[in-house]
Amino acid sequence: MKKIAAIGLAGFLAAATTTTVMAADPEDAIHYRKGAFSAMAWHFGTMGAMVKGKMDYDAEDFSRRADIVAQLSKLPMEGFIAGSYEGDTDALPAIEKEWDKFEGGMNMLVENTAALAEAAKSGDMAQIKPAFGEVGKSCKGCHDNFKN
Ligand code: HEC
Repeated sequence: MKKIAAIGLAGFLAAATTTTVMAADPEDAIHYRKGAFSAMAWHFGTMGAMVKGKMDYDAEDFSRRADIVAQLSKLPMEGFIAGSYEGDTDALPAIEKEWDKFEGGMNMLVENTAALAEAAKSGDMAQIKPAFGEVGKSCKGCHDNFKN
């Protein structure tokens, strides 16, 4: 009996796995990646206000946000799936055609946000500013090429 139950469970897990893969429909993927970008921009925007002196610099809060952005930067990539370049999206079909370049841009974002999170720990604006600038360039560089 135990063995039958185990086989049943294995079958259930296999079915559940298949369902998960199939559930990634383009509309969900668009929604997912937009959510990740929006959350990223929320924190990055506040950090920008501090870097530009429009808001008082709070080292602890800045560092917390930098860590969040570094983690969030890893999320959007899996939302760029086949069939998700039409509909309610600003993502350009060029992403599929120039996939290596796009992926390189995402990897660069992950690296640059990690460097910014590291710089943020110093509490030293002289280190933070250039690192922040590099991240900003990553955002803009990719948007110029791959976003409406
Ligand atoms: C490698 C490419 C790439 C990088 C790097 C990148 N983005 Fe984007 N971003 C996109 C694409 C593509 C879209 C369009 C997504 C869609 O509409 O499906 C987008 C959309 C957005 C949106 C709009 C989300 C919405 O709800 O429509 C915001 C905000 C955003 N990005 C902020 C940022 C910020 C801030 C950074 C840097 C910290 C960044 N992005 C870095 C490619 C990138």
